[in-house]
Amino acid sequence: MAKLISIASGKGGVGKSFCSSSLAISLNAAGHKVLLVDADLGGANLHNFVGLKVPGVGLYNYIRERSELSDVIVRSPAGVDFIGGSGDVLGMAHITKFEKIKILTGLKNEDYEYVILDLGAGTSFNMVDMFNVADIKIVVMSGEPTSIENAYGFLKVAIYRHIERFLSKRWDFAEINKKLRSKSMNFPSVQSIIDAAAAVDKAAAAAIKSFVSAFRPGMILNQVKFKRELNVFYGFENVVNKYLSITIEKLGFLPYDEKVSECIKLLKPYYVRFPDSETVGCVDDIRDQMIAKLQGSGNE
Ligand SMILES: Nc1ncnc2c1ncn2[C@@H]1O[C@H](COP(=O)(O)OP(=O)(O)OP(=O)(O)O)[C@@H](O)[C@H]1O
Ligand SMILES: [Mg+2]
Repeated sequence: MAKLISIASGKGGVGKSFCSSSLAISLNAAGHKVLLVDADLGGANLHNFVGLKVPGVGLYNYIRERSELSDVIVRSPAGVDFIGGSGDVLGMAHITKFEKIKILTGLKNEDYEYVILDLGAGTSFNMVDMFNVADIKIVVMSGEPTSIENAYGFLKVAIYRHIERFLSKRWDFAEINKKLRSKSMNFPSVQSIIDAAAAVDKAAAAAIKSFVSAFRPGMILNQVKFKRELNVFYGFENVVNKYLSITIEKLGFLPYDEKVSECIKLLKPYYVRFPDSETVGCVDDIRDQMIAKLQGSGNE
């Protein structure tokens, strides 16, 4: 079974597609069998990062037109196997639960070591669910305050939804679940949810505590202009730990580099064009951290 790696962010435009495509090329260069998937169902553009002008066949053909998954995989000019998204197809952003399961189980069963999902920005349930089921969950953010706030907001929705889905199997948690499902999510912290659950059933509260501590999302700081921005890591880590009881794995950072946007416009993958750059060195470091994290979690 392939390991699923999901790459998400709260805010758009922080560099999910740059990070996911670069990581895929880096894994491929290190001899791993990897499939890169554009799961940004509303605004697909990942094809441009791997040297393709148009997405071609993609997830849409797989879920709506009965194509086999293997029929929609193409070998991209960047050298990695790729499944394009279908941003211009109306309704694609609103896939059903059945279609989501079909995508995820199909991908896991393909003959790859790693499948990287480049998710769309924001907290739609489809994105959050694809994030939560991944073996490696990665949040990309930049040092800008809105990006940090949105990354926090994304993780909050992700972990609250994870807990809600666990509790939804039992009628005696109906009260807590109703509060969790409301727009304001009504609990000030994950610990306060665990406390409320403990008042109903201590074993269930312990189970929540244990999957929350196993959640461990990775974090990449992108578009770093000054080294001092790396302090964002520590502030973010503390706040997430305090309110969400989640431990962050710091996977690394990528510097701000004007050549990134030039490469996208020219359809020349940055990693292939500038193999000796500092940025590519950082991508390789993130790749190694990620593999180490996967082995450390006992998933291997
Ligand atoms: N490290 C970087 N240095 C300089 N520019 C960057 C860097 N990473 C990304 N960019 C620029 O930011 C823009 C957005 O990057 P990207 O498309 O990867 O973000 P995204 O999070 O996938 O966006 P969306 O939410 O729209 O899918 C790109 O056009 C690119 O030019
Ligand atoms: Mg993107």
